[in-house]
Amino acid sequence: MLSVENLEVVYEDVILVLKGVSLQVPEGSIVALLGPNGAGKTTVLRAITGLLGVHRGRISKGSVTLDGRDLTNAEPPQIVRAGIGQVMEGRRIFREFTVEENLRVGGHTVGRAEIAAGLERAYDLFPVLADRRKQVAGYLSGGEQQMLAIGRAMMSTPRYLLLDEPSLGVAPKIVAQLRDLIVEINQAGTSVLLVEQNASMALSIATHGYVLETGRVVMDKPAEALREDEDVKEFYLGLHGSERGSLRDVKQYRRRKRWLS
Ligand SMILES: Nc1ncnc2c1ncn2[C@@H]1O[C@H](COP(=O)(O)OP(=O)(O)OP(=O)(O)O)[C@@H](O)[C@H]1O
Ligand SMILES: [Mg+2]
Repeated sequence: MLSVENLEVVYEDVILVLKGVSLQVPEGSIVALLGPNGAGKTTVLRAITGLLGVHRGRISKGSVTLDGRDLTNAEPPQIVRAGIGQVMEGRRIFREFTVEENLRVGGHTVGRAEIAAGLERAYDLFPVLADRRKQVAGYLSGGEQQMLAIGRAMMSTPRYLLLDEPSLGVAPKIVAQLRDLIVEINQAGTSVLLVEQNASMALSIATHGYVLETGRVVMDKPAEALREDEDVKEFYLGLHGSERGSLRDVKQYRRRKRWLS
């Protein structure tokens, strides 16, 4: 079980963004972490993967544990070796590298034999990547880049996979494919923490869900109960379940990102 207890995170030593967040990802499960822009979803993932420092953030309280082992403030390579893989927001692939080179980067913590096995597994899972293994990754479509980012994270055969908005900016048909792939990865033995604004997609495959708003968990329920919840229906499923809703999100998201950078 991957567990976050009472987590507080501050950026720049002053901006308190997570105000005591607790969540659990039991072995074998898919857990959805939902919430609007700026709620702190990505920050939760950064706290788990040890990447807060890069963003001038730090854990000011609380803990991250994997099967009881304390990983709070551990370095990223240690966290990868402990069995936690991630796909960052905005699928940071290396655009000038070929598909296969991108996948090999994901295997940097494992041996040569495992890389070969990992490549085979990735091509098995994502046949479009096999067809394009020698192509430069920058020419892949958004959905294909997302698959490549997931394939790369799977190279280290993580026991837990953290996904940050895999459906963002991806065509609805491809979102359905990504959803099926996440289920397949989960059935093959990897537990998943799925951050999504596309609540209908996430709740259709999750066992449990959390809703985060301004740094606090405001709902913590089995996915089925969240699907039935009137507030969730109104605020998340109505708006984000439709194509129009998600398009709006993408625009809003891009504007915000431009503004921040
Ligand atoms: N490096 C940083 N320095 C200062 N503030 C930050 C930093 N990164 C994020 N924040 C702020 O922390 C809050 C939470 O951001 P975070 O990216 O975790 O939210 P999110 O739920 O992932 O949002 P989105 O859905 O837009 O991706 C926001 O108010 C954001 O502006
Ligand atoms: Mg985010």
